[in-house]
Amino acid sequence: MLHHVKLIYATKSRKLVGKKIVLAIPGSIAAVECVKLARELIRHGAEVHAVMSENAQKIIHPYAMEFATGNKVITEITGFVEHVELAGEHENKADLVLVCPATANTISKIACGIDDTPVTTVVTTAFAHTPIMIAPAMHSTMYDHPIVKENIEKLKKLGVEFIGPRFEEGKAKVASIDEIVYRVIKKLHKKDLVGKRVLVTAGATREYIDPIRFITNRSSGKMGVAIAEEADFRGAEVTLIKTKGSVPSFVENQIEVETVEEMLEAIEKELSNKKYDVVILAAAVSDFTPKEKARKKIKSGQSLVLELAPTPKIIDRVKEIQPDVFLVGFKAEYGVSEEELIEQARKQIEKAKSDVVIANRGEVAFESEVNEVYWVTKEGYEKFPLMSKKELAEKIWDKIVEILK
Ligand SMILES: Cc1cc2nc3c(=O)[nH]c(=O)nc-3n(C[C@H](O)[C@H](O)[C@H](O)COP(=O)(O)O)c2cc1C
Repeated sequence: MLHHVKLIYATKSRKLVGKKIVLAIPGSIAAVECVKLARELIRHGAEVHAVMSENAQKIIHPYAMEFATGNKVITEITGFVEHVELAGEHENKADLVLVCPATANTISKIACGIDDTPVTTVVTTAFAHTPIMIAPAMHSTMYDHPIVKENIEKLKKLGVEFIGPRFEEGKAKVASIDEIVYRVIKKLHKKDLVGKRVLVTAGATREYIDPIRFITNRSSGKMGVAIAEEADFRGAEVTLIKTKGSVPSFVENQIEVETVEEMLEAIEKELSNKKYDVVILAAAVSDFTPKEKARKKIKSGQSLVLELAPTPKIIDRVKEIQPDVFLVGFKAEYGVSEEELIEQARKQIEKAKSDVVIANRGEVAFESEVNEVYWVTKEGYEKFPLMSKKELAEKIWDKIVEILK
């Protein structure tokens, strides 16, 4: 591996370690994104091989992709039968062919089985046995062409997955790099939660004082989103109830709420309508709400006394509605010893009948990329040392999958 590739290899996650991805690049202006896309896939551990059509080579030079991937770029099919090397059916073949950014021309050729460019030849070679994903990019009138549309539908029916496009400024723009990487990880991930329905909450609630001011807390939603996305990668059917202002997520089924009341209502509705296997409450829900909410903005320049009332305990409702669900609660304390933290977690287990409480400290947990937690059950506890919230989400699901077996 070239030194400058080694420097970024698997620095963000190990999700794509051992995966060989062919990045097949047609001649769209969005090919300028491919350097960054390839580097990002490598940051998650992928081995990336670029293949470029002649038209793509007029937009970016193959040297740029050679630099980005650290591998020789395929710009023509020669006597070395590069298409078979990369995408033929053999033990060293690619795990995925990602056509990005896909032109109207290349999409339609693939749909017709035409292979007259390095890109289309690799796709045709891979079609029967390797997953193919296509991220289209073109002017909206090209995207609206009935035959292009028909060809996209035809490919979808044949199992090809499409990523994006985003509709902006009269264009069907290529999906964001973050979305493409998310979908690639999801496609290639181990699937040990298939058939499981999972509900996750994330973020900080808002309790309004007047129409524009509210009481909230420092939760960013990162932990809950990481847990929901990890379940999504593993094949679960995920519902994410996320508060307004939390970090974004690519989980498809999201419900946005603001207040504790809205959060409770959304959870009750979900649990009453669908049978869930696992509920993980990672949202930081306010314990208090103003007794009176002013209808107009409270005037400034005066002192103000707020009277707060306790909010309903959401976690206590979960097992009342679905007694058999596997319930994971979170408990955050501040400035406490390990013993006190575990004791507080145990209290929640008794009261809410949670199966597990993930206990953490406010000093480390809030707004941060990392966390250190305790996995607490009735029987015992285990410490998960400081690590990224995404890695923690993996550890949490590994534990749950083991228990659900
Ligand atoms: C600067 C430039 C930008 C282009 N951008 C796009 C695009 O975003 N989408 C598209 O479908 N075609 C685009 N085209 C047209 C394609 O390059 C053209 O259809 C070509 O035949 C595609 O060949 P290929 O699919 O084999 O790469 C662009 C052309 C040029 C010169």
